[in-house]
Amino acid sequence: MHGVPHADRVELDGRWRFQLLQTPEGEPAPSWSEVEVPGCWTMQGFFDLPHYTNVQMPFPGRLLELPETNPTGIYERDFDVPAAWVAGRRIVLHVGAAESVLIASVNGQRVGIGKDSHLASEFDVTAVLRPGANAISLRVVKWSDATYIEDQDQWWHGGITRSVYLYATPRVHFADLRVNAGLTDDLATGTFELLADVDFDGTEAEPGWTVEAKLGDLAPLTAAVPLANKGPGPRVSRADSETMSRHRHEMVARLVSVGLDGAEKAEWETVAPQLRPPLDGQASLRAEIPNVRQWSAELPSLYPLHVVLRSPSGEAVEEADLRVGFRRIEIDGVHLLINGAEVLFRGVNRHDFDQHTGRVVSAESMRADLVAMKQFGFNAVRTSHYPNDPVFPDLTDELGLYVIAEADIESHAFIDEACKDPRYLNAWVDRAARMVQRDKSHVSVIAWSLGNESGHGPNHDAAAGYIRRYDPSRPLHYEGCIRWDWSADQEISDITCPMYPPISALVAHAGSGRQLHPLIMSEYSHAMGNSNGTLAEYWEAIESTDGLQGGFIWEWWDHGLVQRLPDGTTRWAYGGDFGDQPNDGNFCLDGLNWPDRRPKPVLFEHRQLAAPIAVSATPERARAGTVELTNRQYFTGLGWLRAAWELTANGEAVARGELPLPDVAPGKSGTLRLPGWAAPAPDGREQWLTLHFRTAAARSWAPAGFEVCWAQLPLSAKPPTRHLGAPAGVPVTLDQAGLLVHELLAAPPRLALWRAPTDNDRIMGLAAQWRDWGVEELTRTLLSVRREGDVTVVESAEHAGDIVVSHAQRLRALAGGGVLVTDTVSIPAALTDLARVGVVMEAVSGLEQTEWFGRGPVESYPDRWHGSPVSRWRSTVAGEYVPYVRPQENGGHAGVRWFELSDGTGRGFRITTDRPRQMSATHFRAEDLAAAKHDVELKPRPETVIHLDVAHRGLGTASCGPDTLPEYLLGPGIYEWSWAISPLGPPPGHQPGSD
Ligand code: GAL
Ligand code: MG
Repeated sequence: MHGVPHADRVELDGRWRFQLLQTPEGEPAPSWSEVEVPGCWTMQGFFDLPHYTNVQMPFPGRLLELPETNPTGIYERDFDVPAAWVAGRRIVLHVGAAESVLIASVNGQRVGIGKDSHLASEFDVTAVLRPGANAISLRVVKWSDATYIEDQDQWWHGGITRSVYLYATPRVHFADLRVNAGLTDDLATGTFELLADVDFDGTEAEPGWTVEAKLGDLAPLTAAVPLANKGPGPRVSRADSETMSRHRHEMVARLVSVGLDGAEKAEWETVAPQLRPPLDGQASLRAEIPNVRQWSAELPSLYPLHVVLRSPSGEAVEEADLRVGFRRIEIDGVHLLINGAEVLFRGVNRHDFDQHTGRVVSAESMRADLVAMKQFGFNAVRTSHYPNDPVFPDLTDELGLYVIAEADIESHAFIDEACKDPRYLNAWVDRAARMVQRDKSHVSVIAWSLGNESGHGPNHDAAAGYIRRYDPSRPLHYEGCIRWDWSADQEISDITCPMYPPISALVAHAGSGRQLHPLIMSEYSHAMGNSNGTLAEYWEAIESTDGLQGGFIWEWWDHGLVQRLPDGTTRWAYGGDFGDQPNDGNFCLDGLNWPDRRPKPVLFEHRQLAAPIAVSATPERARAGTVELTNRQYFTGLGWLRAAWELTANGEAVARGELPLPDVAPGKSGTLRLPGWAAPAPDGREQWLTLHFRTAAARSWAPAGFEVCWAQLPLSAKPPTRHLGAPAGVPVTLDQAGLLVHELLAAPPRLALWRAPTDNDRIMGLAAQWRDWGVEELTRTLLSVRREGDVTVVESAEHAGDIVVSHAQRLRALAGGGVLVTDTVSIPAALTDLARVGVVMEAVSGLEQTEWFGRGPVESYPDRWHGSPVSRWRSTVAGEYVPYVRPQENGGHAGVRWFELSDGTGRGFRITTDRPRQMSATHFRAEDLAAAKHDVELKPRPETVIHLDVAHRGLGTASCGPDTLPEYLLGPGIYEWSWAISPLGPPPGHQPGSD
């Protein structure tokens, strides 16, 4: 493996002849079909289909045992070798990735085999090529010994998943190029080293070869290619190496025992190169660059590097272009420093995934992923759980993301065995070493990961040993060695990188005195379904606890594959949908993005938590138009942002202005007075100051005017009291069961204690508990209906199995046609952990327009609402549905003050709450959502199902990781809340003529 870019290529991607055999021993039949390369055959209509498992292997057996059926793809195509290549060129076949064994032949001759489904194999095919037409055959065997160490939690596929091409080099060529670029202690001077390995390809090496490097607009550097016995480089004569003078012997003895000084030291400088000549063929060029532009994720400055290999006659024989970034990585106690700063890693785990092609991703789609990461506030990505296409680190260098580059090793089903099995030793070292050899010059790679979920054994120590010596400049990352003890005495991870720790454990560890390394979670906040509750609390802990430096959310994608059904429709398939057995169901749907790249609501939460600017002010100061800004970046000022302010009253903008940002240095704060601000008088409306921060000019990852973050400050400490309406003095209309009759309600308000289980609820067993209690379906017994003045009091008992929940409703007609309802619910001791306490009702069909004052526009919950500002929002009932692939509770809004449903022509109603509450309005009942296995199975009801909750359980992340925090749980006790349903009209608190 090497780090040399080769531009002189013949691309071999496209249609190949193909057939899929049952076993590797099979013989191809005379008839062929065709497939796309790169492509997974599992996605192209052959007998072998995608198969999803997490930990377990897809077939039974012990380590190294393989199933009888072992799909084997035979790929063939013809190609022409360009005439210009034939004379004296060295030609290499490059196969980007094949799962899991690749056997390559050209013109009927075997040229080699390769393993590692996520790194390239290259074969020197010069000797077997002929001018003009040539034939290539690639045999790809799906299952092998390698399968056991490629047991990552994702779909199993088969095929050639990255590009195939030929490239040509001169015979004397760059075998490798390595850039070591850093910063001196002053962080202002760049240190540059280029190591160019020249391979003479068996030719007699003439002296006089040179390597030239031009970095940016600096003066070119040149160095001779050293040849031990020829050429101008340092030379070791026989005499020098065999006969050492007595004086030199003594000098060396002093050198190794106590060191040298004075004249001897100077003498040694000239003697040493003769005794220890540089590597044959390796030219090294060095320079220091004063006032260098640093590279960071915030400002990814790169310098172009042009490298030329010159023959003794001065001819430019080979040229290569790289890009160089200057940055420094250090570990200082429990801090990992980038360019001297303790950067917090706002990271995400990313798999190669595409809903149509499985594991084949294009350069454009990788760029789109990384652009989206930048747009949503991420500054780091872990290439879980294998090296990505070589384009990937080019893109992260360019766009600015810190990368943990991971080796393609996961033996999860044999977690404690394979790592100790010497039969896997070579594979371990090979996979780690080849990754490092390939990506070593990439500035964005800030740590090497030894793989994932493979225990800890000598194979790891060997792999780590290789990397430590090969690349001492970067720290190592590996979770397996601290799995049972974060303070373990291990030497293969310089980062304490646990998975899914509770917040309390992070904080306790940091305060325990036992912390040995910077703590950066390799995985946390499992994004399965409607999840990622308490992300804000994680960040509160990280930002306020020394030694905690962030982590990588699991994961970027929902791996739902587009599957065509017999009736011609499609769905997003998950484990089991292809008849795959055994499988792990929808556990592969755990990303921040839907399979078609649309962002889930949680991404807006993340963007907000990652805001580069923090804004604060007490309500009094905010009212006076004075706020404090903190620049939360590490390296850059605020100049790249443009700000605007907005004053809202009851969610409507009443004043606006631009906001020149002061020059606040990284990590520093400044006070700002809003220009043009006139302190508004309190007028009974809810007033907020909202600031919007947008890009001032286009960046590589966003157009100009792109909203990076916002901030909202209330202008009074307490929200104004809402008046739910004046009594009408007439009784309300109830049906025989004592339930409210309303012409726009198809189903009256009733108690609701259940939600369609989220994946977290289900996997942690809470859903089963709810079923056992019987809270899914309550049976209601009317106890009494009585009048107290103009209030009608309805008492009922709701039965969840044997458990009785008492519910009282006090209803009072309001002037203007509304009804005020006060619910009192007593949750008994047996119901220790409920989804919600609230009412559910259904509006008649045809009221499709929604408008609300509260958090929005995206879904929010008690432990995940930071991405949703308080404002007036408009939507439709259909648009309120959030399409989690496996349906579950969705579409909630936190902090709703009032909510309207209408047909757009004035028919409709408003629900006003006593205090900001959780609400949702969709075309689905909770049981509809709970019963469906795929979102396409859902049939929207014409009615609108409205939930209004006094309390709603947090989401947490318990499908893999901790549940929500105790403050977001709800259990036994008395719950009371009031709300009013009223005809449409001016919203409450609205003062005619005031806006
Ligand atoms: C982690 C693992 C990931 C994935 C995740 C759960 O333990 O490293 O590959 O399985 O759990 O989705
Ligand atoms: Mg795993």
